[in-house]
Amino acid sequence: TGRAPAGGRQRSVREPGRDFSRAGRTMAGLREERDAERAKIIEGKPERQHKLGKLTARERLDLLLDEDSFTEVELYRRHQLSGPKLGDNRPYTDGVVAGSGTIDGRRVFVYSQDFTLFGGSLGQAHAAKIHKVMDLALATGSPLIGLNDSGGARIQEGVEALHGYGGIFRRHAAASGVIPQISVILGPCAGGAAYSPALADFTFMVRDTARMYLTGPDVVEVVSGERVSHDELGGADVHGELSGSAAVVCDDEQSCLADVRYLVSMLPRNNLEPAPRTVGSGAGSEVRPRLAEIVPVEPNQPYDIRKVIAEVVDDEDFFEIHELWARNVVCAFGRVDGEVVGVVGNQPMVLAGVLDREASQKAARFVRFCDAFNIPLLTLVDVPGFLPGTEQEHNGVIRHGAKLLYAYCEATVPRIQVVLRKAYGGAYIVMDSRSIGCDLSLAWPTNEIAVLGAEGAVNVLFRKELAAEEDPEPLRQELIGAYTEEFLDPAYAAERGLVDDVIDPVDTRAAIARGLAMLRDKRTERPRRKHGNVPL
Ligand code: HXC
Repeated sequence: TGRAPAGGRQRSVREPGRDFSRAGRTMAGLREERDAERAKIIEGKPERQHKLGKLTARERLDLLLDEDSFTEVELYRRHQLSGPKLGDNRPYTDGVVAGSGTIDGRRVFVYSQDFTLFGGSLGQAHAAKIHKVMDLALATGSPLIGLNDSGGARIQEGVEALHGYGGIFRRHAAASGVIPQISVILGPCAGGAAYSPALADFTFMVRDTARMYLTGPDVVEVVSGERVSHDELGGADVHGELSGSAAVVCDDEQSCLADVRYLVSMLPRNNLEPAPRTVGSGAGSEVRPRLAEIVPVEPNQPYDIRKVIAEVVDDEDFFEIHELWARNVVCAFGRVDGEVVGVVGNQPMVLAGVLDREASQKAARFVRFCDAFNIPLLTLVDVPGFLPGTEQEHNGVIRHGAKLLYAYCEATVPRIQVVLRKAYGGAYIVMDSRSIGCDLSLAWPTNEIAVLGAEGAVNVLFRKELAAEEDPEPLRQELIGAYTEEFLDPAYAAERGLVDDVIDPVDTRAAIARGLAMLRDKRTERPRRKHGNVPL
C-alpha cells in the first residue's frame, strides 16, 4: 500500500561499502577486525557523557559489579528500521548495555542506558534487550538492577516504543515479590518511563543529574502556566523528601552505585532464599549500657530512634530506606548477630513519632518487601497515635493507615516487637502488636500500652465530673494518678499475655538476637487465593 508501518519500515538492505566475502582473508585478519570493531562499540562516546557531568553506561557497570564479572548480551543488537532519524543512525547496542555480573560474588542482572545514543531513548530493539535481562533475572532468581538515563520512548519508533515499555512494566509486576528489583536514576527519566522505577522495590536518585517526571517543565508551563525548573519539578531531593518516589538519594554516581551494592549485599537473591547471613558475634549475651541512656523516661521527651537502632544492630551499621521522606518513622535494613532484619521504628524526634499518611505508606511498603523476601521484622514502638486533623482525614489517613495494618497482618516472617515507651490506641495495634501476629513482644519498663494517654483518658472518662468542679485541676491530677497506677503498670500488658517479657533496656540487642534464633525456622501456611486486596 506504500504506507510505512508505525515506527518505520523493516530494513531489507545493509549499508553499502562493506565487503564480507572471505576470499583471501585469514582468521587472524578476521579476528583483528572483529576486535577493532568491538573496541569501538565498547568505547562509545565517553566525552559526550562526561561533558554532562555523568559517567558512561559502562563506567557505571564497572562501579556496580565485581571486577571482570560482567557478561554482556546482545552487544551487536541494533534496530532494523528505516525512516527519518533512524535509517541513517543504527548504532550497535541500540543505546543500552545489558547483561549480568556479580555483586560480592552473587549474581545479578543489569541494564544500563547509554544517553549518548538516541538520548538513551527506548525503541523496539532497546526494549527487547531489557526484556531479555528481565526474563533471565526472573528465570535464574537473581536481582534486577536498571540504570536509567533516557529521554523516554524513542519518538521515531512510535507505538512500538510504547509497546516496549509495556513489556517492561508487565515484567516488573511479574517479578515483584520474586526477585528484588532496583532502579537507579542517573539522568532524565521522563514520561511513562518513570513507571519502571515506580514498579521497582527501591529507586535510587543522584542529586543534580537525575530527574523524573511524567511531564516536563515545558508541558507544565503550556498546560498550567506554572514555570518550574527540571530540578524543582523532579529532582532527587523532590522525590526523596516530598513525593517519596525515591527511596535513596545520593550526592554522586560513585556513592550511589556503592549504596546499591551495599543494599544488594543484604538482600536474598529471590523469595526462595534467606537473606545472606554473616558470622554472628554472639549477640545473644551482649549488654549495651548506652540503651539505658538514649531514651528519656518521660514519654514526651524526644530522642533519636536511630541511636537505638545503632545499638541494636551489628557494628552500628544500618541502611535507611526513604531516609528523607516521612521521617517520623524510620525503616532500615541491618543485621543482628549476622542475620538481616528489617527495622521499623517510630521516630520521636520528628512530629513526636506520630503515624500519619506518609509514614504509613512508607512503613507498609517496607514491611511488604521484608515479608516477600524472608527478612524478619523488628518493630521498635514509641508512638503517641495517629496524627489528628482534617488534613490527614480528608487525604485518606484511614486508607493509608490500613496499608500498614494490612502489611503486618499478612506478614509471615519472624516478627519481634519492642515497646520502648508509649503505644497508644490504633497505633499500638498497627505497630505489630500481638493481636495482629507478632511472634515475640518485648517491652521496656518504661512501656505505656493503653487506649489513650492518662490525661486524654481522664478528660474523656470524667468529662462531666471535671466540668462540675469549680477548679477541676486537683481532681484531674488525682484521676490521672489513679489511671496511671492502674493502666500504666509496666507489667499490665505482660500479665495479660500481650507482651512476652519486660526486659532491661540494656539487654535489648541480646533479647532480639535470641528471639531471632528462636523464630528462625518459622513457617506459616496461608490459604490459597489469587491475591489479597491490599488497600491501595
Ligand atoms: C528520540 C531522543 C529522545 C526521544 C532525546 N533524544 N530524547 N531521541 N526519542 N525520546 C535525542 C535527542 O534528539 C538528541 O539527539 C539526544 O537524544 C540528546 O538529547 P538533547 O535534547 O540534546 O539532550 P538534553 O538537552 O540533555 O535533554 C534531554 C531530554 C530531552 C530532557 C531528555 O531530550 C527531552 O525532553 N527529550 C524528549 C523527552 C520526551 O518527551 N520523551 C518522551 C516521553 S513520553 P541528537 O541526535 O541531537 O544527539 C514517554 C512515554 C513512555 O516516554 C510511555 C510508557 C508508557
